[in-house]
Amino acid sequence: MTRTLTRGTKLVVASHNKGKVWEINQLIAPYGLEAVSAGALGLEEPEETEPTFEGNAKLKALAAAKGANLPALADDSGLEVECLGGAPGIFSARWAGPQKDFGLAMEKVAHEITARHGWAAPGPRANFISVLCLAWPDGETATFEGRVFGRLVWPTRGGNGFGYDPMFVPDGHDLTFGEMEPAGKYAISHRTRAFDAFRKAVLGDLSAEPVRPNADRDADGLHAAAANISTREELKTFVKYLSADLERRGQPRVNLGTLMVALEDSVGEKSDEPRWRTLAKALLAATEAKQP
Ligand code: IMP
Repeated sequence: MTRTLTRGTKLVVASHNKGKVWEINQLIAPYGLEAVSAGALGLEEPEETEPTFEGNAKLKALAAAKGANLPALADDSGLEVECLGGAPGIFSARWAGPQKDFGLAMEKVAHEITARHGWAAPGPRANFISVLCLAWPDGETATFEGRVFGRLVWPTRGGNGFGYDPMFVPDGHDLTFGEMEPAGKYAISHRTRAFDAFRKAVLGDLSAEPVRPNADRDADGLHAAAANISTREELKTFVKYLSADLERRGQPRVNLGTLMVALEDSVGEKSDEPRWRTLAKALLAATEAKQP
């Protein structure tokens, strides 16, 4: 029997990735749980040295639970391609290189498949997998797994989502995850399935309550989105979100001076960053309150 969590519990999210912390916070907030990131607590991020998703999720959750003396939740996820023996698998993030360039990672996947097997219709079978691990400071752990099965397409389609989304079509659908609206993807995603298993086992006795919509800008979400952009299509989707955010707040302040400084900074210091990401960060900076 898994130990359960109660309302008001502080839960460490064992990640320094703002996007991930934000996403997990969205999932647990309705249950009265508060997510704090391992990064905000100054905890070191352990190296992912295990050969399995489960092993790496456990390693990250245990390090955070012991370091913070609080229950901690970690996730490890990736894309598994059947004819590549499960690759890129636990190396999904690493195939994108230090620049986190998923355009490049998807090309690598397509290249490996084509070189080894050719690319035959209806496309190679693949699945996304997410393993969540909840760890307690005394060393107890529980893991929960979710998968979504489908096929790969090439060339990629769509600019929504992140990572390998534009090359994955889930079974029973025609659109790639990159073409679906976020709500469509979340309804069936591997992460949602893993979270459902976590929710049933750990939050079973808690009821979800609607969270008061936050009138403030979702700065963490926007920064996480900007930091993940690798393609022109992703930039277009990002600009759509940014415009909707400005409209919602009814005060479209755009600071051209900040835009210029941000562009100069990015181009000068990080010239090998994908250019669409540089543009996204500069546009976001131009809509923030701070002055150059
Ligand atoms: P992690 O941070 O080690 O869990 O890295 C997981 C990697 O798997 C991400 O960087 C993505 O490349 C990939 N991945 C995981 N979930 C998804 C998804 O929902 N869509 C697309 N790619 C994903």
